[in-house]
Amino acid sequence: MIIAIDGPAASGKGTLGRRLAAHFGLPHLDTGLLYRAVAHHLISAGEALDDVAAATAAARALDLQRLDDAALRGRAMGEAASIVAAMPSVREALVALQRAFAGQPGGAVLDGRDIGTVICPGADVKLFVTASAEERARRRWRELVARGEPADQAAILEDIRRRDQRDAERPTAPLAVASDAHRLDTTHLDADGAFAAALGIISSVMASRTKS
Ligand code: CDP
Repeated sequence: MIIAIDGPAASGKGTLGRRLAAHFGLPHLDTGLLYRAVAHHLISAGEALDDVAAATAAARALDLQRLDDAALRGRAMGEAASIVAAMPSVREALVALQRAFAGQPGGAVLDGRDIGTVICPGADVKLFVTASAEERARRRWRELVARGEPADQAAILEDIRRRDQRDAERPTAPLAVASDAHRLDTTHLDADGAFAAALGIISSVMASRTKS
């Protein structure tokens, strides 16, 4: 079973993806980490973030086994990731690796921006997770503070809006709802509520498949 989860910044895709993966005993890939890792590589090597050749080389050399989550999770890295993620050659370099992950025996859970539209258009279940920008900014603020990265909620809201706009307006694999995706608005749901709602969607999709 392949579960594709997409949605805007800080919508809770990662938390939901991890929980669904644990529930179904499937591997999980947070694909945002790939773009964050490319950006991190450029920054660490002193390269410019708009250097397409350097970003593409970093994407081609990426190793899924070596995604150091802690170094990639900072606020600045999300912004930097969305700059390299708009480069078609960077995206292209990461397609095969994501499809290979999705194609593991038994399936996988992947979350990102283009999983249901580009990476796994044939996924068994597609979820598009949203929440109001204000709620997403509150969640990201809490997450950063808990990790010892104090931040200003208004500035985070601005980051999120700018990043959503860049992600939705880029010509290659923009943030978009697949025509067969199930929308899940988590503005008024906590993590348990979002998980329960997602499970409900997945079981009704699977049940309707068994019938047909
Ligand atoms: O955790 P958050 O939702 O803030 O971001 P993320 O999922 O880690 O993604 C960081 C950035 O990577 C996004 O703003 C996108 O520009 C890019 N991304 C993408 O283009 N395609 C994906 N499948 C995943 C992330």
